[in-house]
Amino acid sequence: MVRIESAHREFVKVFREKPAWISYAPGRVNLIGEHVDYHGGPVFPLAIDLGVTIVAGLSTGGSHAVSEGYRKGAPFRVGMLDAKRPVTSWSKYVAGAAWAVGAKRDLLVSVASDLPTGTGLSSSAAIEVAAGILWNMVDDLGLGPLDVARAGQRAENQYVGVPCGIMDQTASAMGRAGHAMVLDTGTLDILYKPLPDDVAVVVCETGVRHSLGDSGYPDRRRASEEAARQLGVSVLKDATIEDVERLEDPILRKRARHVVTEIARVWEFAEALEAKDRKAIFSLMQASHLSLRDDYEVSCPELDAMAEACWSHEATWGGRMTGGGFGGACVALVEKDKATDFMSQVEQIYATRVKGSTGSFMCCQAADGAKAWQLE
Ligand code: GLA
Repeated sequence: MVRIESAHREFVKVFREKPAWISYAPGRVNLIGEHVDYHGGPVFPLAIDLGVTIVAGLSTGGSHAVSEGYRKGAPFRVGMLDAKRPVTSWSKYVAGAAWAVGAKRDLLVSVASDLPTGTGLSSSAAIEVAAGILWNMVDDLGLGPLDVARAGQRAENQYVGVPCGIMDQTASAMGRAGHAMVLDTGTLDILYKPLPDDVAVVVCETGVRHSLGDSGYPDRRRASEEAARQLGVSVLKDATIEDVERLEDPILRKRARHVVTEIARVWEFAEALEAKDRKAIFSLMQASHLSLRDDYEVSCPELDAMAEACWSHEATWGGRMTGGGFGGACVALVEKDKATDFMSQVEQIYATRVKGSTGSFMCCQAADGAKAWQLE
């Protein structure tokens, strides 16, 4: 609601007219299956109840993007977008989505978000999906939610220039309230899995901001692709752990080991969640974190301290870093009626272990995916 009001207020203030359309796309948190979505592996995200809202109206003089509290985004014309010369300000996410869906008409847009940026909750995917679904409606492009997700990934890869996988945009476009999804990134099949009623999803932010573009993300992707090439497979989903252990280069071996073992953990986690097998959930999430720390090397001391603090609370079903890493947040599954106590205890432990960063904590609801509609 706050988002809609903010987007609306800024629209009227800057463009001096009323908006005609609105779209919304949520952020996501991933329970397990990290850095496997560019190797055809399964991931286990849920769309959360925080996201990006865009209100829009037709424009006769190019597309313009504004957002309360931010500088105006660089303007662009949808007919002249070129991924080789992307617009340079934050409006590149909006322009990239317009480019990727094949937008026909220029729009005035006002963007508002309650998703913190740089925390690993996919604020960039949310803006791409919200913009994609908006143009899909306005220009009647006939795209389904999965097409919008794919376009969002193309925007990020080719227009924004970050080589991400398909997980974030799919979770944002196709989330379902009360459920997480097992997304097979090889086939793009989705199995929705209800979250247990007595479990809360807690996001534990480290206060260390990350940015995928300049982090080691592209480097990790290149290394794991090189490992696949040396093993003669197109993606590591098709390699076994025995294959991986034969790799000569110790760094490539570690990177590939993470991917192959993480893929196996996701399928085990799906079974454990269904059976509400708390012990298995705990050890799978912990093993995922340790593999990201030691083999893929995308964690950082703050994420490690946060994960350890999560593991130490008696109400924890499981916890680990979530998203691309190098900062950002941990996710924990926690007994619902002890979530408040969990958050205050973990906050205290984190504060004593990590000087100079402040943790922040929130319980998230698993929410529906993106939608767009016409305003009255
Ligand atoms: C980021 C990327 C995703 C995925 C995760 C790591 O969120 O956008 O595609 O690779 O990192 O699992």
